[in-house]
Amino acid sequence: MDRIEWQSLPSDLRSAVQDQFGPIIKVEPISEGRRSALATVAHLKDGPVFLKGAPIANERATAQLDREAAVNPHVRSVTPELLCDLTASGWRLLGFEHVQGRRADYTPGSRDLNTILEALATLENLRLPATVDVMWFEGRWSDYATVPQHLTQIAGTALLHTDLNPGNVLITGTGARLVDWGMTSRGAPLVNPADLVVNLIACGHTPHEAEALMAELDTWKNADPAVLGYYARLVATTWLEAFWTPTHPWARAVVDAAVKWAMHRRELLR
Ligand SMILES: Nc1ncnc2c1ncn2[C@@H]1O[C@H](COP(=O)(O)OP(=O)(O)OP(=O)(O)O)[C@@H](O)[C@H]1O
Ligand SMILES: [Mg+2]
Repeated sequence: MDRIEWQSLPSDLRSAVQDQFGPIIKVEPISEGRRSALATVAHLKDGPVFLKGAPIANERATAQLDREAAVNPHVRSVTPELLCDLTASGWRLLGFEHVQGRRADYTPGSRDLNTILEALATLENLRLPATVDVMWFEGRWSDYATVPQHLTQIAGTALLHTDLNPGNVLITGTGARLVDWGMTSRGAPLVNPADLVVNLIACGHTPHEAEALMAELDTWKNADPAVLGYYARLVATTWLEAFWTPTHPWARAVVDAAVKWAMHRRELLR
């Protein structure tokens, strides 16, 4: 989705934001990410806030913002606080505490890796009340799985981020902050570390190295190898198939990584 400039937003929406926060001194667009039509840092008298929004007509994007707003109070130990949730002039807009941080470095030997794993360890202890409306992870795959009945293996009630790409992990002086909870789901606990494994492989780790980094996480220690193998090939086959569509959302490195991981899991069966 193309990003929109702050100045191009409806003036009533811009006013609603300023009613909430006070006058905006300067805006700084953010190029990282792609799903939200608006992603910008607004500088105020008391410091910056991060604004993220989409037109209500875009039902998919709006549903993601709804989800992100609903989940925020339950994931505050790993994410910035939601400060405002506005609907005005046909737009939905969320304002978050600004994170003074940078994109995580997922490459081998990176000093960020421990920090990222600490955030994952915190995440695996968080619980989402049953009343919070997020997606069921297995349901998201039902159009793609070759044998839909097998999807029950990745079902569960664990809180899953599901988009742990390095752009969604901000490294600060006091730890990693996970942002972008629009695709939060409930599912099997092993999905969080497994998704991180695929992303680490995409950034240069071998599958063996990426998996070794997960060793201390309970969600990894308790993972059933058969389910890891199933998830690895589900991700690999689905993303490879999706990659044939010109508008596919995954980078080639991530598709390659998923295939590599599935092949590694297959080797472990020998
Ligand atoms: N609270 C925050 N403070 C500072 N920067 C942030 C904050 N939240 C997000 N960002 C930055 O803005 C980028 C885009 O935000 P986010 O990932 O939430 O939206 P998105 O465009 O929907 O992303 P994607 O397309 O990756 O799903 C992030 O990659 C991150 O660099
Ligand atoms: Mg993002």
